[in-house]
Amino acid sequence: MTDTTLNLQNRNAQHHMQSFSDFAYTKNPAATHIITRADGVYIYDSDGHQILDSMSGLWCVNMGYGQQSIINAVNDQMKELVYYNNFFGTSHPSAIKLSEMITDLTPEGLNKIYFTGSGSEANDTMIRLVRHYWAAKGKPSKSVIISRKNAYHGSTMAGASLGGMSTMHAQGGLPIPDIEHVDQPYYFEACVEAGEKIDADEFGIKAAQSLANKIDELGEDRVAAFIAEPIQGAGGVIVPPKTYWPEVARICKERGILLVADEVICGFGRTGEWFATDYYEIEPDLMLFAKAVTSGYLPVGGAIVRDDIVDVIVSAGQEFAHGYTYSGHPTCMAAGIANLELMKETNILHQVQSNTAPYLASKWKTLEEHPLVGEARCLGMLAALEIVEDKNSYKRFENSKEIVTRCRDYCYDNGLVMRAIVNKMVIAPPLICSNDHIDEIIEKVWKCLDLTDQSIK
Ligand SMILES: Cc1ncc(COP(=O)(O)O)c(C=O)c1O
Repeated sequence: MTDTTLNLQNRNAQHHMQSFSDFAYTKNPAATHIITRADGVYIYDSDGHQILDSMSGLWCVNMGYGQQSIINAVNDQMKELVYYNNFFGTSHPSAIKLSEMITDLTPEGLNKIYFTGSGSEANDTMIRLVRHYWAAKGKPSKSVIISRKNAYHGSTMAGASLGGMSTMHAQGGLPIPDIEHVDQPYYFEACVEAGEKIDADEFGIKAAQSLANKIDELGEDRVAAFIAEPIQGAGGVIVPPKTYWPEVARICKERGILLVADEVICGFGRTGEWFATDYYEIEPDLMLFAKAVTSGYLPVGGAIVRDDIVDVIVSAGQEFAHGYTYSGHPTCMAAGIANLELMKETNILHQVQSNTAPYLASKWKTLEEHPLVGEARCLGMLAALEIVEDKNSYKRFENSKEIVTRCRDYCYDNGLVMRAIVNKMVIAPPLICSNDHIDEIIEKVWKCLDLTDQSIK
């Protein structure tokens, strides 16, 4: 470790509070990795190590690091109009243009965008919007939002309440009132519980049925909306069985419940489509986005809302008393515009669909031959490994969390960022990965699984 690294780690420990971190690092500075620069699909730490970022930062740097056209667009926008807000009857060209560009990509009817600075704020905005909508429609009792266990919708009070992470609920008095959680469509875990392979299609219907049961229990007149990530990201890249989404969409429509798709991870190319709702062929009433809309270059999030929802709110004749200083921030909008232009110019979705994602899928599947891997699943540029002690009986390790954390550390030491989630290892590599980069990822994952296996024996 260089002097520079030690110096940065010590200063970091004194003043900087890191996210989703045990603050014990403030007493043990050397535990922190300091990342100093990045280019393409690689990040570099303060000791000069090159590390393949197979998590695209936090599922966001879809077009990779160092894209000059985005940097130039941001620079130009800063010179023209670095900041202005969209409060009290104002707007500006870059917010207008990005809202046009995004709504060009969404299903018919989803035509209005409320910009936020993050995915968490998009979720907060959604709760206020849908409750205000039902009140404006003369149904104020429809205030409950149903979400799912093990979902992730952000870290604000509302986002973490919508999320179904018990560790988050345990801190800070969550969830807030009128949020309910139903089962997640986590097929592999259902096999673990059964101790054997079960029927995936039947399980998908059963998981969707838990939403119908909850609506019955509460009464349709109490339920405003159902929110879900099309594929659960932070919960562990949980890809639902194919029967799940059509059944959920049917239940929501039949019972007059708004369907909200949280596309914060899935949106802007992660599945090879602009949105995962395109992949699943469902039409939500609202869509939430953030992250890859700018490839993470600057913070932008938002809620995309059906025209008729906005029309009902208009008819109520009251302003929507909601706003963030950085809603539609011109410089951040410029990053979004340039990122979407780059995605179109490079035809990146075609590249992902026709080459990168199928290549990743075929290579990823080979990892199922490793003794620690119970399942290697992959959809688009999202992939997960289920770590098990015995794959035939679907038996987990008792200390799974410790084992996957060890595996993650081996990855880092061997030049790969991979995320450890309870009993899974996941990746969400940049869309710009070449097949050579994918080969490098697979080779490193094998090596680190071997190291992990050896450390257990
Ligand atoms: C599905 C989903 N929703 C919301 C969020 C919160 O976004 P942010 O961290 O930008 O607030 C995340 C973040 O990972 C997410 O994965």
